[in-house]
Amino acid sequence: MKYSVYLFFSWYLINTSMMYANSITKVVIPMAGLGTRVLPLTKSVSKSMLAVVDKPALQHVVDEALASAITDFCFIINTEEQEAIEYYFSSNTPLDAVLKQRNKTYLLAQLNESIARSSFTYIPQPEPLGLGHAVLMAEEFVKPDQFFCVMLPDNIIESDDPHMAHLIALAHHYNASIITIEEVTKQEASLYAVITPKQFISDDLIEVGDIIEKPKPDQVQYCLGQVGRHVLSVDVFDALKRIGPGVGGEIQLTDAVRLMIQEGKRVLAYKLHGKRHDTGNIRGLLETTVSLGLHNPLYRPMLLSLFENEMLKITT
Ligand code: UTP
Repeated sequence: MKYSVYLFFSWYLINTSMMYANSITKVVIPMAGLGTRVLPLTKSVSKSMLAVVDKPALQHVVDEALASAITDFCFIINTEEQEAIEYYFSSNTPLDAVLKQRNKTYLLAQLNESIARSSFTYIPQPEPLGLGHAVLMAEEFVKPDQFFCVMLPDNIIESDDPHMAHLIALAHHYNASIITIEEVTKQEASLYAVITPKQFISDDLIEVGDIIEKPKPDQVQYCLGQVGRHVLSVDVFDALKRIGPGVGGEIQLTDAVRLMIQEGKRVLAYKLHGKRHDTGNIRGLLETTVSLGLHNPLYRPMLLSLFENEMLKITT
């Protein structure tokens, strides 16, 4: 699609999503996994609360949601981590009182403004039985709405427009569930949930014919891997109750989406415009911090001078 057409389409989608601003406002953010790939960092801290530049990964995701007119947050948490996360997303904390005494309320002003615009629900996942199982915990939170968003907190999206706003507008327009995809290499494909297209609606939008979690090389026809941003119909809850454990013995969200497709429910896939940062492994966490730091005018000079000093030490 030509760039000007893409810009027009983006403008149209964002405006449509604002028109529908009140209809898909709920997001489920699962964060009760073990985070084994980044241990010991995650032994006593949720992966979602790891620092990415100057705020926790989760706040980057909350900011994207708020910019997409999402205001009702449901955090699926591990009970041991709930207190710290709940404290972070509360205002009028003891820390707020101390900052007030010291005339430093500006330090939390932006966060408190986000908190004031949102409502937060915390639902424990008793055991980390998989992403699908985590999403199932949110059924009561979502109903009676027809569609809801799912955002994985270990994926941070860097883009000109908020990605979820596009997905919401598309879900409305097509009255369908919609997932996000990006092109991956053949070698990487087995690490993702990979789709098989049924129909290309446009260069960016595909009707999904099949989706397979962590496919074997001979199951991959198109290297289109799923990214952690979805708008799903409530039908997914019924599907989640009927699937058994999948890859890794876990209840996989992908398997429920696959069942929905097999039973004739329409699922679309939208290509990500922007950069996805994966903070779920050490390399990704470092890469995200460096990239987002360098792309932030506040920290760019600081980081460049740090790198320069380190490089000098290596070369002299
Ligand atoms: P991951 O697949 O990255 O799993 O989950 P994980 O447990 O966080 O990390 P590893 O693989 O052990 O390193 C994707 C998202 O789903 C959540 C995770 O917290 C993460 O945000 N999740 C996963 C749950 O909430 N519950 C689960 O049972 C599994």
